[in-house]
Amino acid sequence: MDFKQYIAARVRADLPQEEIASLLALPPDTAMGDFALPCFKLAKTLRKAPALIAQELAASYPTDEIVVEASAVNGYVNFRIDRAFWAERTLACIFAERERYGSSDEGQGRTVCIDYSSVNIAKPFHIGHLSTTVLGSALYKLHQFLGYRPVGINHLGDYGTQFGKLISAYKRWGNREEIEKGGLRALNALYVRFHEEAEKDPSLEDEARAFFKKIEDRDEESVALFHWFKDLTLQDVGRIYEMLDVHFDSWAGESFYIDKIGPVVDELREKGLLVESEGAQVVDLEAYGMPPCIILRSDGASLYHTRDLAAAVYRKETYDFYKCLYVVAYQQNLHFRQLFKVLELMGKDWAKDLIHVAYGMVSLEDGSMSTRKGKVVYLEDVIDKCVEKALAVIAEKNPALENKQEIAKTVGVGAVIFGALYNNKIKDITFSYDKVLNFEGETSCYVQYTCARANSVLQKGGRARATKAEAICPQEFEVIKQLAEFPATVHDALEKYEPCFVARYAVDLAQKYNKFYFDCSILNAEEKTRQFRLALTEATLITLKNALGLLGIGVPEKM
Ligand code: ARG
Repeated sequence: MDFKQYIAARVRADLPQEEIASLLALPPDTAMGDFALPCFKLAKTLRKAPALIAQELAASYPTDEIVVEASAVNGYVNFRIDRAFWAERTLACIFAERERYGSSDEGQGRTVCIDYSSVNIAKPFHIGHLSTTVLGSALYKLHQFLGYRPVGINHLGDYGTQFGKLISAYKRWGNREEIEKGGLRALNALYVRFHEEAEKDPSLEDEARAFFKKIEDRDEESVALFHWFKDLTLQDVGRIYEMLDVHFDSWAGESFYIDKIGPVVDELREKGLLVESEGAQVVDLEAYGMPPCIILRSDGASLYHTRDLAAAVYRKETYDFYKCLYVVAYQQNLHFRQLFKVLELMGKDWAKDLIHVAYGMVSLEDGSMSTRKGKVVYLEDVIDKCVEKALAVIAEKNPALENKQEIAKTVGVGAVIFGALYNNKIKDITFSYDKVLNFEGETSCYVQYTCARANSVLQKGGRARATKAEAICPQEFEVIKQLAEFPATVHDALEKYEPCFVARYAVDLAQKYNKFYFDCSILNAEEKTRQFRLALTEATLITLKNALGLLGIGVPEKM
């Protein structure tokens, strides 16, 4: 039940219902009312003082058994909803929809491509990849929940001269068994060694270039090595994706587009967009305040931009997307502005549907890292450490708990994901183990712990579906209102590409439930109240599970 729409439909003002609905807000203090309509913005259209408008709208509002009061205070109309009615509607809806509560079909018939994680072959999967991976995955789940058809794309970095370097290093210092055993880390060690040695002996760079050329010319041995490196990388990252519950529908990486570049370059040329600059073919973007977008190097080789151009065209043709999202760090802002502009200049009207979902950097408390010198923080190590720490906390808090290892995994992995998703995505964040595993903080373990508490209440009290209550106390009402906000929260999170709205929502709901839990007696309450409070507990559990689920975080039964 959407109370905002309900109220807006009945307000007797000469204004569209949508406008009024969008102005309705939840006042910070419930003593004032449940919804408030500020009349300041209306003053211009209606040519009257806000206080007068508020008085007239309040006086003419037809109260009923749902909206029981409308009163004017200082330019606001405050509405009061019948709390029992509100509770009943909300709980009935949650019990009817359960794991679908909060979902909708608003995206019906729309395909959304989401390019995220997009790892680089033979390069470490480090803490810097955390945000794109978990943000992209949450956006994937959000779209699915709201009826869209998401297409998850891992735009693998599997093309470029670095593979020539890797082959050269492998042939010089590598050993099959060691690499097989060491996976991504062993490959990266080779890469690092190459750079060290090349500083002393620059001719290695030529050798690397020659090997890369061999890959391009489909030389059997070089291509086989490249595929082997790729398989090893995918095995390693696959393990992490599994832990994080992250999935992809397409693994078409940069190399996939090599044979699709020709037609795009031809089109650019036909449309008169290509100009020569120092031997390279570029699209001049000076008129738009940007450096030129390089399409072909002087030796005819393609670039990161070129492959992205071909990829965008391919995605439009293949999926006919409604939107195509690129979940990539803000360091690549210029790259995407250039890319989108070139497509627009090519006359692709769908260029407006391409969206760069930019996010900030993650660093660890103890300093930064550099890929080249091999000083990196592997994401897998961060996850393992979090699981280990979670296990220690759980063992201390609840030594008798069964399945500690399994639960610690859910808690530890959740902490890593939630830590990356709790803030607005554009903010740089410093990852702290203590912070993400603080059971009393704004964390997933706090939410998970609240779920375990709710589970235990339900186990002792039995499930109840008494959605009706005669009187509702303020603590109960706060929970009800928060529960009712979930669908709108999910919608806003998708609209703004901010999974953090859902993360914050979960913490708010858990806090409100805990306040209710400590202030009000559930199991020892008089029978009717007890039934209602049990229902409120179950509704909270369902909603918290849905919220965490959208972020890719599980909920253990006990903790
Ligand atoms: N592999 C790239 C990197 O690590 C990210 C690719 C993002 N996706 C894209 N279509 N450009 O920087």
